Amino acid sequence: MHTANQILDKINAYISGLSLIHAPEGLYTPIDYVLSMGGKRIRPVLMLMAYNLYKDDVSAALAPATGIEMYHNYTLLHDDLMDRADMRRGKKTVHKVWNDNTAILSGDAMLVLAYQYVAEAPLSSLKEMLDLFSVTALEICEGQQYDVDFEQRDDVAEQDYLEMIRLKTAVLLAASLKMGAIQGGASGQDADLLYDFGINIGLAFQLKDDFLDVYGDPAIFGKNIGGDILCNKKTYMMIKTMELANGQQKAELNKWMQTQTFNPEEKISAVIEIYNEVGIKELCENKMREYYNSAMRSLDKVSVEKETKNELINLVHELMYREN
Ligand code: IPE
Ligand code: IPE
Ligand code: MG
Ligand code: MG
Ligand code: MG
Repeated sequence: MHTANQILDKINAYISGLSLIHAPEGLYTPIDYVLSMGGKRIRPVLMLMAYNLYKDDVSAALAPATGIEMYHNYTLLHDDLMDRADMRRGKKTVHKVWNDNTAILSGDAMLVLAYQYVAEAPLSSLKEMLDLFSVTALEICEGQQYDVDFEQRDDVAEQDYLEMIRLKTAVLLAASLKMGAIQGGASGQDADLLYDFGINIGLAFQLKDDFLDVYGDPAIFGKNIGGDILCNKKTYMMIKTMELANGQQKAELNKWMQTQTFNPEEKISAVIEIYNEVGIKELCENKMREYYNSAMRSLDKVSVEKETKNELINLVHELMYREN
């Protein structure tokens, strides 16, 4: 049984050992750039931890886990282009260092590479893992489409938001866990419980990401603060604040969402001020806790010895209280 940190070390060693850069360098250098910036590597860690609940030696699962991380990093290249984001992991985003075409094409190559790594899974679990991976990858596109569509809408309800983040974020955490379980030889029931665990962790994870986009420290978060506000993203915080706002606050929020030309800093601080007035922080924290507790109930039912699950419990606890 490995600790989460031991697993992270193994993934990092495996990823640094990949020889990613070759001709044409314009295609591969950005891939190396984004992968070598690190990040939390939470998806491959979850995958290997789920695997490790059933099998001791995780080395056979390192390639598929790398595939998941490659896939995640590909979504970031395209997401940063779509979200007009300049910073990621404390560095300039790929489309800022290079250009839009680079983010598109290097991203495309990463999606293909991701499949190649996942396809290194043993034949006995390959079909099931690839099928889940493909369904998941398509769901993420659906979630990203909703996310972008919602920028233009003013009637997005809490349930719409929750479904959107389930698709764009939660399914990948869930699929990582389930793929690890499948390769580890878990029962179908355990694999599904781990998937449910991942969905709930994922919902809490995106709520926290949205929260940090407003209340995080950019030096630690690694991304610019207020990006979601500038894009008129319909986050839980925005939707709930709209619901709770008085007439004047509502008018103010609507004004900022409709104004085409504005000073970004001014818009961000005006919206955050209204968030603070309605007490959105606490509401958001309660919602995260709700999903965290649901996640724990699923994990509890997974049929491995209780203490085997402690590493996962600790990791998820850290994720809830993360600042990046
Ligand atoms: C960022 O994912 C995208 C979201 C789904 C919120 P992470 O927060 O896992 O980013 P890294 O990989 O640690 O940088
Ligand atoms: C990211 O959501 C979801 C995917 C990349 C699929 P965000 O747009 O909130 O992620 P960040 O904040 O840019 O990392
Ligand atoms: Mg986005
Ligand atoms: Mg984004
Ligand atoms: Mg975000």
